[in-house]
Amino acid sequence: MKPLIKKLTETFSPSGYENAIREVIIEEIKDFADEIRVDALGNLIARKGSGGKKIMLAAHMDEIGIMVNHVDENGFARFSSLGGVFPQTLVGSRVKFVNGTSGVIGAHFLKRPVRLVMNNKMYVDTGATSPKNSPIQVGDVAGFERPFLDLGKRLVAKSMDDRIGVAVLIETLRELKSTPHEVYFVFTVQEEVGVRGATTSAYGVNPDIGIALDVTGADDVPEIDTKTIFLGKGPTFKFKDAGSLGDPRVIELFIKTARKNKIPYQREVATMGGTDARAIQLTHAGVPVMTLSVPCRYVHSPSEMVDYGDVQNTVKLLTKFLEKKVEL
Ligand code: CO
Ligand code: ZN
Repeated sequence: MKPLIKKLTETFSPSGYENAIREVIIEEIKDFADEIRVDALGNLIARKGSGGKKIMLAAHMDEIGIMVNHVDENGFARFSSLGGVFPQTLVGSRVKFVNGTSGVIGAHFLKRPVRLVMNNKMYVDTGATSPKNSPIQVGDVAGFERPFLDLGKRLVAKSMDDRIGVAVLIETLRELKSTPHEVYFVFTVQEEVGVRGATTSAYGVNPDIGIALDVTGADDVPEIDTKTIFLGKGPTFKFKDAGSLGDPRVIELFIKTARKNKIPYQREVATMGGTDARAIQLTHAGVPVMTLSVPCRYVHSPSEMVDYGDVQNTVKLLTKFLEKKVEL
């Protein structure tokens, strides 16, 4: 899966500008789905199987980024963030605009502690010296530029959130030989700005069960006293985050599937954050959901790290889950 992960994470598609990544995904799945469609907001919806329970799997294909809101008289571009962008991860970063322009992020960060440098004090320097010769203008959008890094067991890239979920869905679709369900593999748009793609695609699919595939923050790092989520200990089943409660019946089905197939898993309770599950659970008259997550260090930084074994185990678990009939 490593070449696939490299291809997915090195594509630039911040929220609202998912065209590039959607084209990449369509190429990867077109021979494996029974039907593929794109809805009005740009969600990519691939169906496999028909007639059984409607299961919606959602992985968001957008990534965090920035949008230019002002170019000053010297050509420096101020920006606002698309999704949760932390200022302390930005200084020295390189960005790549959807129009192909590259730039670096600068700030007078020596003047004040980094934690006090707000995004609105930073700027993108594209080498321009005036608005006239600036290759970017108000409304232009960029992602963070950072090549995929293969450390063997551990993989690092920008946009592991949530291209690793996208990779898991693609690989599961390829692995899944047959299913008693009607499975919808949905690659959603605009998750990072408020689960907007999941909101409309869930309404359109109207599933019986919803599973969001995403990353979750691993805290198995220095300076954390109570470590709860680890790289390499398997995917997590989310009981709660700020946006949704995992349905106990769905969680139980996943626990059973994991035990039966001897796949490691972690139980997760998160105090912050939210995933596409938040939107799916509240569509129509309500949908039981769970978030299945790949643990990830340094989420929402330009260097997000996952464990390759966790990725493979997530594919294996999801495939096994979809092969069997389920009753809630
Ligand atoms: Co995110
Ligand atoms: Zn995410």
